[in-house]
Amino acid sequence: MSSVVITGTQWGDEGKGKIVDYLASQADTVVRYQGGSNAGHTVVVNGEEFKLRLLPSGIIHEGAECVIANGVVFDPQTFLEEIDSMSQRGIDVSRIKISNRAHVVMPYHRIMDGAFENRLGDRKIGTTKRGIGPCYADKMDRIGIRVCDLIDPEEFRSKLKVNLEFKNEILTKIYGESPLDFDKILAEYESYAERIRPFVTDTISLLNREIAENRKILFEGAQATMLDIDYGTYPYVTASHPVSGGVGVGAGVAPRKIDRVVGVVKAYCTRVGEGPFPTEQLNEIGDRIREAGHEFGTVTGRPRRTGWLDACVVKYAGQLSGIDYMAVTRLDILDSFDEIKMCVGYKLNGKILDEIPASLKILAKVEPVYETFEGWKSDISGIRKYDDLPLNAKKYLERMSEVTGISLGIISVGANRDQTIVVAENIF
Ligand code: GDP
Ligand code: IMO
Ligand code: MG
Repeated sequence: MSSVVITGTQWGDEGKGKIVDYLASQADTVVRYQGGSNAGHTVVVNGEEFKLRLLPSGIIHEGAECVIANGVVFDPQTFLEEIDSMSQRGIDVSRIKISNRAHVVMPYHRIMDGAFENRLGDRKIGTTKRGIGPCYADKMDRIGIRVCDLIDPEEFRSKLKVNLEFKNEILTKIYGESPLDFDKILAEYESYAERIRPFVTDTISLLNREIAENRKILFEGAQATMLDIDYGTYPYVTASHPVSGGVGVGAGVAPRKIDRVVGVVKAYCTRVGEGPFPTEQLNEIGDRIREAGHEFGTVTGRPRRTGWLDACVVKYAGQLSGIDYMAVTRLDILDSFDEIKMCVGYKLNGKILDEIPASLKILAKVEPVYETFEGWKSDISGIRKYDDLPLNAKKYLERMSEVTGISLGIISVGANRDQTIVVAENIF
């Protein structure tokens, strides 16, 4: 297998970073294909923690080339902060390539993200305020500034001039914010451009050449299926395509070149930000999951909403992304529970639904159908073989695979790289 996609199956923070890092030891290249610095991917190696926002999680592995592809919205400030911090930790960052076609996050995107949220009031999305939505909106409006423009001083100056005049009108007249200063942004971004230039390349030809040479490529999804702009709980979603199909447009790699898809499934469910969450537990069970799992956002520090595993959502992710294997993470967080529940269907007016309702009004009314499992009540964090897992843990996992129709590939029992149980040896 030469190209494998890792995608989130729920509402993000499933542990994609950990799984990407684990598989990256077998990969030549790790690619981010969508999203931007709204991602927060944590990798733990020998107890040392790395938090990544824009850089592919493969950066922790010496050999892996890391690509930020065209579908990503590229925030140069975050990028430079991240590479400086990685360099200080002795990590070689010269292996990074940035697509010349990626769109650049500008200061007005970040401000508008916050201002728009304020304007929405109690209909706010609960974004990360990293300017992600406004940057993708400019891309679609065809007024975006791309990395190839950023590193072309004349082009950048002229695009910034036109955009800023227009953005300042919106900022001042609609949002009542202060206008931004052209010279200040120009100087700031010119200095970024100088530092970024050596990393910029045509990642489309690079990746397609590597695929033709049978090199092993890992595509690292950020966010997740239920936050996908088309398939998630719209409008409470992000502005990109985390599903595996996002690789086609986000990296310029044709769908038929993708060999395998791995869906990362947290053993229970969390969500940050607003929007429907059928299995949410607004009670002491939810509090207990949050405490046991230290469920607070990597990017914003917000407490994450918590609930039981929703196998309907995972099944839906499986269909959308063609998931071959599940990587189940954070199973150890459920170690102390007497009883664990899994949602295996949605009921509406007494009838079982076959689909995830598009209408949020209807989704809010569905009743999750739960199956209850006996807990295993033991510490599984030291287990490294599937057969050694407690019977009750295996029952829970096997039912998850049955309901979703997806095979078990990897089971993660701790944040560390080595706390990993491989069920399917042939993922790559
Ligand atoms: P991502 O956004 O999908 O990469 O996930 P995050 O990094 O935001 O959140 C997952 C958190 O769980 C991180 O702190 C990881 O270090 C941690 N983690 C990943 N897998 C496991 C696991 O199996 N058990 C435990 N206890 N923590 C894990
Ligand atoms: P990783 O890659 C969890 C959520 C935000 C908000 C919505 C839109 O770490 O799994 P945005 O800033 O993208 O416009 O916010 O999406 N969100 C995430 N939630 N994990 C993430 O990334 C997220 N990235 C965005 O909380 O609800
Ligand atoms: Mg995260």
